[in-house]
Amino acid sequence: MKLIFATHNPGKLQEVKELLAPKYEVIGLTELNDHEDIPENESTLEGNALVKARAIWEKYQLPCFSDDTGLEIDALHGAPGVFSARYGGKEKDAELNMAKVLAELSEVDSRTAQFRTSIALILDGQEHLFHGIAKGTIRRKRSGVDGFGYDPIFQPDGYQTTFAEMSNSDKNKISHRALAIEALVQFLAD
Ligand code: IMP
Repeated sequence: MKLIFATHNPGKLQEVKELLAPKYEVIGLTELNDHEDIPENESTLEGNALVKARAIWEKYQLPCFSDDTGLEIDALHGAPGVFSARYGGKEKDAELNMAKVLAELSEVDSRTAQFRTSIALILDGQEHLFHGIAKGTIRRKRSGVDGFGYDPIFQPDGYQTTFAEMSNSDKNKISHRALAIEALVQFLAD
């Protein structure tokens, strides 16, 4: 069965292709020659994931899914949340995003946080939601060079390193995205 994944991100696409093969053939938007950027203007991760999946369903009428992720910091009442990609003011500027978080937490001792991924799947017009959570704490300084986004300041529970100090394959065993994809895979297998 073919499944469209509403992403232009080649790294994410490859990860998900491997997880769903050989039973499902995952196709990214770039492979469909679809370069439209679907706006993510909803107030929740679930809402953004659903809007993207619905846009693809309406266009192609084929099984499709999309994801949205946010970093939720308890002391900041869940921020940056849906604004994670642009928290520092500029779209996808990880340095600015981390700088803002570190500044806001500079006087804060309670540093618990979680990454949360929502996946929306549309099959035969029916909508399904899946979630994955990685809990941890926000470090006082950046550490590590791997990964992306907030990885250098996020230390997952049970580890002494940040996500940016872990190999991709180790991060992918415990990450929010991997757990959400696992829930999707389980649903499709049933
Ligand atoms: P997206 O929904 O996957 O595009 O994620 C939105 C934003 O959340 C990204 O631009 C990153 O800033 C952040 N983010 C998502 N996943 C991760 C991750 O695994 N590590 C660090 N930051 C992430």
